[in-house]
Amino acid sequence: MTPAAKTVPVSTGASFEVEGLTVRFGGKTAVDNVSFRLAPGEALGIVGESGSGKSTTAMGAVGLLDPETAEVETRHVRLDDMDLGKLNGKQAGVLGRRIGVVFQNPMVALNPVLTIERQLTDHMRQHLRLDARTARARALRLLGEVGITDAERRLSFYPFQFSGGMLQRITIAMALACDPELLIADEPTTALDATVQAEVVDLILSIRRSRGLSLIWITHDLALLNRIADRVAVMYAGRLVEIGPADALLDHPSHPYAAGLLASVQSLWTGGGTEFRTIEGTPPANGPDMPGCAFAPRCPRAFERCATRPPMATVPGASAHDVACWLFNSGVPA
Ligand SMILES: Nc1ncnc2c1ncn2[C@@H]1O[C@H](COP(=O)(O)OP(=O)(O)O)[C@@H](O)[C@H]1O
Ligand code: SF4
Ligand SMILES: [Mg+2]
Repeated sequence: MTPAAKTVPVSTGASFEVEGLTVRFGGKTAVDNVSFRLAPGEALGIVGESGSGKSTTAMGAVGLLDPETAEVETRHVRLDDMDLGKLNGKQAGVLGRRIGVVFQNPMVALNPVLTIERQLTDHMRQHLRLDARTARARALRLLGEVGITDAERRLSFYPFQFSGGMLQRITIAMALACDPELLIADEPTTALDATVQAEVVDLILSIRRSRGLSLIWITHDLALLNRIADRVAVMYAGRLVEIGPADALLDHPSHPYAAGLLASVQSLWTGGGTEFRTIEGTPPANGPDMPGCAFAPRCPRAFERCATRPPMATVPGASAHDVACWLFNSGVPA
């Protein structure tokens, strides 16, 4: 753990609260009743294997899913005291201004036929109502902040003229263009070469520190969260199965799935001929719609009670650390 990397001096970040988020695609549940909170300036890491519902959770919460295909239900989603669920289709404005998003693939966020200048300045002129000159000056400053050198010249470039790492820096600049209070980074390094990944992680962490941003970082890489997150949320088959302080959860995960993930990461760390331990089996396709614990078919500790769905409960003796597993539910023998 490197606490210094996570220290945020003065927060200008916003609190973010998601309560009872469920998302269905064509009647099939992808995310089931997920709730979490983020304090101002806090960094939450959401981890889980591919298809566990991480992106759908984040994008569903901020209104970025296509209403033609996704059915989204929430009790509420609040950014500070603004209820995003009550914006009646105006989330797009909030998204551009108060929430910035960095996607896995930079090409998703950029238009291939427009220059970087046009894309950065259009965004700022639309949301901040800046004149062309002020928007250009601000675009130059932002490119500097994300480490793009020779920014004057590069403003006139098209996306294809940049490397993957540079493009991701530019999408980070776009996400920051309107001084957001919350940054959502959805696997922002997964599509990049290994050597560039660390640079982009460092860049986002340094921006978070200097701006005091609240941060949601989505990843399938538990080890990465050691550096990034104050709190960690573990998802499995569309459900949140454990959420708690990063130090406690990463040192001693409670949920058998989280423990299995950590054991497989640790076996990679130890290396030197140690066999890579993985969790046997695969997540069930109908996980969120299963009546019981979706991890039961793979869980080495499953018992009778696991045929019914475990509710979230506080880990005994802990605070702000919850787990959805019958082993930790009081009154049930472990
Ligand atoms: N647009 C969509 N249409 C239908 N199913 C979808 C769509 N987007 C995601 N899903 C399904 O929702 C589940 C969660 O996906 P996702 O949130 O992308 O997972 P993750 O980000 O953890 O990899 C998966 O089963 C996926 O197939
Ligand atoms: S509820 Fe049962 S099956 Fe699910 S993780 Fe806990 S012990 Fe395993
Ligand atoms: Mg995803």
